[in-house]
Amino acid sequence: LRGGILKIGIIGTGYVGLTTAVCFAEFGHEVMCSDKDEKKLKLLKKCKSPIYEPKLENLLHKNFERLKFTSKNKEVVDFADAIFICVGTPEKNGKPDLSQVEEAAREIALSLKNDYKLIIEKSTVPVNTYQWVKKTLKRYSKSSINFDVASNPEFLREGSAIDDFMNPDRIIVGVENKKAEKILRKIYKPLIKKGVPFLVTDPATAEIIKHASNSFLAMKISYINMVANLCEKLGVDVTTVAKGMGYDPRIGDKFLNAGIGYGGSCFPKDVRTFIKIAEEHGINFSLLRETEKINKAQRKRFIEKVENVLWINKNKNIAIWGLSFKPGTDDIRDAPSIDIVSELSKQGANLRLYDPKAMENFKKIFPESENIKYCNDKYEALKNADALLILTEWDEFKNPNFNKMKKLMRLPIIIDGRNIYELDEIEEGFEYYSVGRRA
Ligand code: UGA
Repeated sequence: LRGGILKIGIIGTGYVGLTTAVCFAEFGHEVMCSDKDEKKLKLLKKCKSPIYEPKLENLLHKNFERLKFTSKNKEVVDFADAIFICVGTPEKNGKPDLSQVEEAAREIALSLKNDYKLIIEKSTVPVNTYQWVKKTLKRYSKSSINFDVASNPEFLREGSAIDDFMNPDRIIVGVENKKAEKILRKIYKPLIKKGVPFLVTDPATAEIIKHASNSFLAMKISYINMVANLCEKLGVDVTTVAKGMGYDPRIGDKFLNAGIGYGGSCFPKDVRTFIKIAEEHGINFSLLRETEKINKAQRKRFIEKVENVLWINKNKNIAIWGLSFKPGTDDIRDAPSIDIVSELSKQGANLRLYDPKAMENFKKIFPESENIKYCNDKYEALKNADALLILTEWDEFKNPNFNKMKKLMRLPIIIDGRNIYELDEIEEGFEYYSVGRRA
């Protein structure tokens, strides 16, 4: 260790790994990343980001000389003092598939020598995974080895991952001894100096904090969605109800936006995993089961709403604005749009889709066809439409030219799954439906 600068290894260059890598390089650390995906590596070596994430490519450029990329985990182990495991843990049969974590641990083990290394899990994993990582490192290493395992969960949101990393609400580190804690303090020194809370726990606690946090936020969304469903019946505006609730700091005004429910690669999976973990320990976390059920029902409810407005969806021209699971990202994993597009096309509607970033990813699931067309801009999608559905609250949808829209559409009907317009902002002549507000 030289003057606070560390050599850091990152295994896996997905959202989490790459964000972590460029931010650590921004702190001044030397970083080496590995990935199995040659296509990604090729781009990264040319200083190009394989994913769309605001500010990421800028930081990649700025700190390129402190970043190295390789396909070999061995090189990372030889190079680094601290190695972060940032591989994916996708869902398989209702459980997170930890095979990439296991493989990373095994490969690290084969390259470990007797100089000390700290291995840190950053991927979201079920509680006590660190025990398995530790065991795997011991089992597969060839010589006498000298290491610790720590847990350091991430709380990055896609679309604002860099800002979240640089200005976190907290840093959680789960360690088994002071030595590991000291290294993590060095790594995060610039943030600790800024006053970011740094909570030191044991690894199991750190692992639980991650699942408990994401599940709580998902529950908050399902809660407000149920309140919205009630508001809709009563002719009360849920956005005002949420605002009124949010003034109470014990509730808080964040994550109370009603809509078509949560998606993404984290909440749906993490809620299900937390239910499973609880179940394995004899706890029936029925509150979270209900959270998940409500979330699924919210997508269905939206499709029913379209049906209630259009009577029959078959042969209707339906424009869709927004496909990504939220704005600011090209990610469509578990996006509500997938269920909605799939159901509407089953019902025989003609769909014209537009999203500022996510169309390429969406085409992989729904290739262009007779009744699914992709459009170059938001207005093109509206030609002859019987209705417009808004599924993601991208900024560019927030101030459209309503006149132009009216002229392009066959019927001026907007069904908004994200409540992006104020009720009095919608111009005369439009039929506007949203979630949890009067029609
Ligand atoms: C989430 C957490 O917010 C991060 O703290 C966490 O690190 C990350 O998961 C992870 O585990 O890696 P992310 O999935 O990127 O981040 O997205 P969020 O901004 O949390 O949104 C999740 C979903 O909830 C989106 O589909 C969004 O549309 C929906 N949402 C969010 C609502 O429907 N209403 C709200 O009020 C807020």
